[in-house]
Formats: sequence, C-alpha cells, structure tokens
Amino acid sequence: YMLREKMNIISLEEVDSTNLYAKQNLYSLEDRTIIVAKNQTSGRGRFNRSWVDLGDDNLFMSFVLKPSDTFKDVYANLTQYISVILVNILEEYGLAPSIKWPNDVLIDGKKISGMLSETVMQGNKFKGLVLGIGVNLNAEKSALSLVKDKKITALNIELEREHVDKKLFFEKLVNQFFKSYDEFLEHGFLLIKNKYINACNFLGKEISVQVFDDKKSGIAKYINDSGELVLQNHKKEEFVLTMGDIL
Ligand code: BTN
Repeated sequence: YMLREKMNIISLEEVDSTNLYAKQNLYSLEDRTIIVAKNQTSGRGRFNRSWVDLGDDNLFMSFVLKPSDTFKDVYANLTQYISVILVNILEEYGLAPSIKWPNDVLIDGKKISGMLSETVMQGNKFKGLVLGIGVNLNAEKSALSLVKDKKITALNIELEREHVDKKLFFEKLVNQFFKSYDEFLEHGFLLIKNKYINACNFLGKEISVQVFDDKKSGIAKYINDSGELVLQNHKKEEFVLTMGDIL
C-alpha cells in the first residue's frame, strides 16, 4: 500500500465483522491498527442493523484506536470526523456527497457509506475504540435492491465506471484519516464543523428523528459545537439530539 507512514494493517479474507474482530482482539491490537476484510459475512450497522456485503471489491474496515486511558467526549464525534473525510474523498472523485446526521454519507439521497463506532470498556475502565466504516465501491446495479430499508448506491455506479480501485480508495481514506486525527482529538468537532455543515442536506427542513422508541419531529435548526442536532418543534421549544436516525 502507498501509505504515508508505516501502518499496522491486518488484512483478512473473510470475517464475520471487522468491528467484532477488532473488539474481540482489542487487548492484543496496537493503537492505530486497521482491520480490513475482503468479505464480511455478518456486518453490523447502527442500532444493530445489518450491513450487507455487496461483493469482493467493497470496503469493510475498522480502525482500532487507543488514544488515552480515559474516555473523552470528542471520541463521540469520530464518526462525524470520518464522514467528513469520506465527503472530501468523494469530492475528489468529482461527486457531490452529502451527510445525513449524524454520519451517513449519501449521493443524491442514496447511502454510499456508513460508520459505526464502538467503545470497549472493562468494567468502568475505558480500553479503546473501534471505528468501523463500510463504503460501497463496486456493486452490480441489481445488487442494490439487497438492501431493503433504504436507497443505496455505490461509487462505480455513480461514476458510471465498470470498476473502482479499492486499494487506491483505501489509501486515500487511511492517509486522510491520520493526517488530521491528532488535531481532531485536540480541537474536536469545531475542527470540522464548517465542512460538516456545508455537507448537511437536512438543515432548515421539517424532519422526524427516531431516538430509540421515541420519535421527535420539528425543524432541523442547527448543529451545535458538539455536533449535536438541535430540533425546534411547533411550540418553538428546542431539543438537543445526541443520537438518532433521521427518518
Ligand atoms: C451504519 O450505517 O449503520 C454503519 C455501518 C457500518 C458498517 C461497517 S463495515 C466495517 C465495519 N464492520 C461492521 O460490522 N460494521 C462496520
């Protein structure tokens, strides 16, 4: 790989889930190790949904991160950090991606990438983070209907190309991720706030957000300095949402 620095990369032929593998092996894996798999048989998404494997040349990877001995709030924004990086890379390919809060990356309203961050604790001691990302790079048009609950797309389809080079995409992602990673940990969401908001496609609109069993509706007012979504209902009351799913 043409990576800027020497990296710990564990490349697997097949795995249930790169996130699960990283969690199960967390203690023996060094900080900044990358797990990447050719095939993923049981990929997981947010809210325990599944992440479908659309074939060999799609990207399934997880970053193992052990930035400190205690949990810091900024870690909760790492999925937003990586979604901004995804946006930058897709722009390099000439596309106009958008972000659906908190971290789905879409093209023309169709999902191309998702992130799942998991915190590993031992009792109440913070042990590390597993930051997983899936990117649809190469899919057959007919396979897009395998995902039933939402519209999805893949990079090759958007570029109207037969095939997209996965290795090149992987290198861009890893290089750009680590280029600003330390700075991000120091400054937090503010470092990416402008870029993030520019990519957001829902601000100012009337939306509904599923938060576990609860549904909140209102106008998506703004994203605050912590990356949270502020909704305003018809009584002009504001609600700060830390997690959820825009419906
Ligand atoms: C989502 O959009 O809900 C998040 C999807 C995250 C999928 C990636 S693929 C690599 C890593 N391993 C997993 O099992 N999930 C993440």
